[in-house]
Amino acid sequence: MNSKAFRITAHGGSDQLELQNISLPSPQGNEVRVRHHAVGVNFIDIYHREGLYPITLPSGIGLEAAGVVEAVGPEVTLFDVGDRVCYCKAPLGAYAEAHLVPEGSLIALPDSIDFETAAAVTLKGITAAYLLFATTQIKPGMDVLLHAAAGGVGQILSQWANALGARVIGTVGSEAKAQLALASGCRDVILYQQEDVAARVRELTSGKGVEVVYDSVGQSTCAASLDSLARRGLFVSFGNASGPAPEIAPLTLFQKGSVYMTRPGLVDYTADREEMLALANKLFEVIASGDVKVNIGQTYALIEAAKAQDDLAARRTVGSSILVVE
Ligand SMILES: NC(=O)c1ccc[n+]([C@@H]2O[C@H](COP(=O)([O-])OP(=O)(O)OC[C@H]3O[C@@H](n4cnc5c(N)ncnc54)[C@H](OP(=O)(O)O)[C@@H]3O)[C@@H](O)[C@H]2O)c1
Repeated sequence: MNSKAFRITAHGGSDQLELQNISLPSPQGNEVRVRHHAVGVNFIDIYHREGLYPITLPSGIGLEAAGVVEAVGPEVTLFDVGDRVCYCKAPLGAYAEAHLVPEGSLIALPDSIDFETAAAVTLKGITAAYLLFATTQIKPGMDVLLHAAAGGVGQILSQWANALGARVIGTVGSEAKAQLALASGCRDVILYQQEDVAARVRELTSGKGVEVVYDSVGQSTCAASLDSLARRGLFVSFGNASGPAPEIAPLTLFQKGSVYMTRPGLVDYTADREEMLALANKLFEVIASGDVKVNIGQTYALIEAAKAQDDLAARRTVGSSILVVE
């Protein structure tokens, strides 16, 4: 069976994304062939393409898609042909018309969630779920600082944290994004390229600082994140949009107020299938409740994957970006 699929043979810019006609073998063992309807575009795809996160080349690219089961391997027990599914895990290769995925990585898609929404929210929303409920537990009244609050993960996380009763301070790169962040549950917004973030956070929290910082921006925000924490607060560094965060000495954590730091990754919160499904269920429930609305800010055709990645890297996007498979 043939599929159009993006492959990379060398690390580099978006011109390394090559659209190929590949021949997909019949599913073996516990593999499932998923016919994609929509594909999620994530910043991690850019880290894979650039080589920040090492991968073996040549490789497919993309971790997230939604579609229909088209064929199953002889050992598959969890899914049947025709099932609606989504996923957000390796093997890389979601930027394609179809992909072979181990059944253990697939999530059954509720009827209420369409393929485009699933592609926009599975990876980003399960990330938000583990950050809110597993990395720490967000409680009513907590002060939270969230960088890139108008982005894909950012808009989901801010709505959800707000629904849990947290007071969310969002940072964004433009006035237009500030309006979106406010509409997504942020109580206050800081334009982090123009304002002193830590000083504004102290003002907004009566000098106390925040209990939790969610920082996916990395290099350019790391220092301000540490300076924004309350005593014994938690610094969650979970991304590198501006480059990797610098190394932090243990003594620095004491000097910033006996703060904690963690650097979590989705792979370690979805390795256990039951845990992944529990997070996915929480996500589907919060969408059904209306507390989290999924904003698909940009929709591209599959063949426009390079443009989608360039727009994401250049901060031209808001909410989630998806590729639609015709
Ligand atoms: N650890 C995990 O498990 C995990 C899982 C999923 C995602 N993530 C991370 O979460 C982050 C968000 O992912 P996403 O796919 O939803 O992307 P996104 O937040 O929609 O896009 C990244 C945003 O980061 C901000 N940014 C600040 N400095 C930047 C720079 N120098 N270059 C590019 N962007 C910059 C931009 O917003 P402004 O214009 O408002 O500054 C930009 O829109 C990424 O860092 C990703 O790696 C981590």
